[in-house]
Amino acid sequence: MKIELPEHIKNLKGYKPGKPISELIAENNWEQTAILWNNENPMGSSSKAKDAIITAFEGSNFYPDPLSLKLRGKLAERLGKQTENIIVGNGSEGLLLNILKAFCSGKEEVLTSSGSFVIIYIWSQINNTPLVQIPLTADYRLDLEGIAAGIGENTKVIYLSNANNPTGAMITREELTRFMEVVPEHILVVLDEAYFEFSVTLTDDFPDGTQLNYSNIIVLRTFSKAYGIAASRIGYGIASKEIIQPLLNVKLTFEPSNLAQAAGIGALDDEQFLKKTMDNNTAGINYFYQEFDRLRLNYVPSFANFVMIDFGTKQKVDLIVEQLMSHGVFVRPLGGSGLPHCIRISVGRREENNYCIEILEQVLNSL
Ligand SMILES: Cc1ncc(COP(=O)(O)O)c(C=O)c1O
Repeated sequence: MKIELPEHIKNLKGYKPGKPISELIAENNWEQTAILWNNENPMGSSSKAKDAIITAFEGSNFYPDPLSLKLRGKLAERLGKQTENIIVGNGSEGLLLNILKAFCSGKEEVLTSSGSFVIIYIWSQINNTPLVQIPLTADYRLDLEGIAAGIGENTKVIYLSNANNPTGAMITREELTRFMEVVPEHILVVLDEAYFEFSVTLTDDFPDGTQLNYSNIIVLRTFSKAYGIAASRIGYGIASKEIIQPLLNVKLTFEPSNLAQAAGIGALDDEQFLKKTMDNNTAGINYFYQEFDRLRLNYVPSFANFVMIDFGTKQKVDLIVEQLMSHGVFVRPLGGSGLPHCIRISVGRREENNYCIEILEQVLNSL
């Protein structure tokens, strides 16, 4: 091709999607599978979201409400905020890109941790925003003191994932407050709480970012995980109206779609589905801890719907992942997040978790 690409796009590694799982299953003769690689909801999707999508389809010849007022209003009511404090988008990753578009230009940097959500690294590059990464602590926690010390004259956005994907570790209330006290007000802190519903079920000590009283914070949440509608692409952000307005200005005109907006509205009423999901997750996390202890594996306590295991070397990880996959067990090796010696396993349904452990034990015994 004779068309020259900008340097930052030329070097883009991007997100590497695997083969669609349906194709892999069709090509192989697995009697059983465990799809535990994307932190998805193993209990399916909220049926109330489904009903709402079917009803909303009737209006599909019209463009959707570009301001998503109904969904934003409902979220505001739930969270004790005003509609102007809420933005919705094409998943929380869509909001992340819009945050970079709205707030970062030229030399202005994103400051974050290494070993965190891979999409922030990719979106920074796509947006041509310089990225500064502070290493994780030795016990795989975000080093908030190190991140605070890393603030420089070009820092514009700080991204924190709580609980952190892929390590599962959480920032405590005290750590978060201490951190916010030292971050200058001209820097936007993005607190990504994609796993919030799981975190608050697993511990009483999880800090709810929406309760913090700072003008320079945006909290991101999603319907993809707890409500099982990852494919619908709907996430939301909570912040002051001065932060929300520029995000409304840069978004795609009709983002998110009518079906995504409806799915969110329906899902919010589905307490039964939420409870079923949380019960399954808590049982799954505890089962994993028990089995990982029995297998003497080095794992990180999790405040989300997955657990990360440190296997020591990339070679060992590659071998384990390949052998698990040959039995229809899909887990995530973490080279993309800079942790090539670690694997992340999402909580599945009970039978998937059992199958995963059975095969993992076989594989470990064969090494
Ligand atoms: C920390 C974190 N943020 C955001 C997302 C993306 O969520 P969404 O589906 O809303 O784009 C994920 C998905 O894995 C995640 O782990």
